[in-house]
Amino acid sequence: IITTIFFVLLSYLLGSVSFSYLIAKKIKKIDIRKEGSGNAGATNTLRVLGVGPAISVLLLDVLKGILPVVLAMLVTDAAFVHVLTGLAAILGHNWPIYFGFRGGKGVATSIGVLVSLVFLPALLAGVVAIASIFITRYVSLGSLLFAVLTPVALVLLMLIPGFSYPFEYILFTVVLAIMSLWRHRTNVSRLLSGTENKIGRKHA
Ligand code: G3P
Repeated sequence: IITTIFFVLLSYLLGSVSFSYLIAKKIKKIDIRKEGSGNAGATNTLRVLGVGPAISVLLLDVLKGILPVVLAMLVTDAAFVHVLTGLAAILGHNWPIYFGFRGGKGVATSIGVLVSLVFLPALLAGVVAIASIFITRYVSLGSLLFAVLTPVALVLLMLIPGFSYPFEYILFTVVLAIMSLWRHRTNVSRLLSGTENKIGRKHA
């Protein structure tokens, strides 16, 4: 229990470090949450600040997912600790303690968490997601495909003899998909009405 609390707290506090907010403040003295889509994430950093800062934000936000989960996996075999640690990192990213609980949508940090925890399903879902972003230029659609297809790929892989994942991991990927849909609800309504922002083009 002490180990669990330690990892969850550490992970939440690290996840709460909103790199898009910090980088935007540092280089342009702006609050990223008041620009573009208003989201504190890599996609909005791309919109507001450009490719370089966006890549830095993406990598740092992914790292916030990888570090605590890999550490937890090294220290304990208990799947529920891995899962709670991953969840805490994403909750920190979405609702950061240092920034008024207004953060991002958790995609980059989820990538870090899921790649560490369930590499192959995350990779398969990621390939489809990246392809969809290239084709449609809707990052939100790719994000949602990644979140939803990871549990689908995981369950499909488990049909193959030799593949097995702890129940906690399966449940976790489903919870993440639901959370991601909720976090992207405004994106979903814009996608449905055909008004979602595309990348690689000037927009409001
Ligand atoms: O990861 C966030 C992305 O899916 C959408 O970002 O800024 O277009 O709401 P944004």
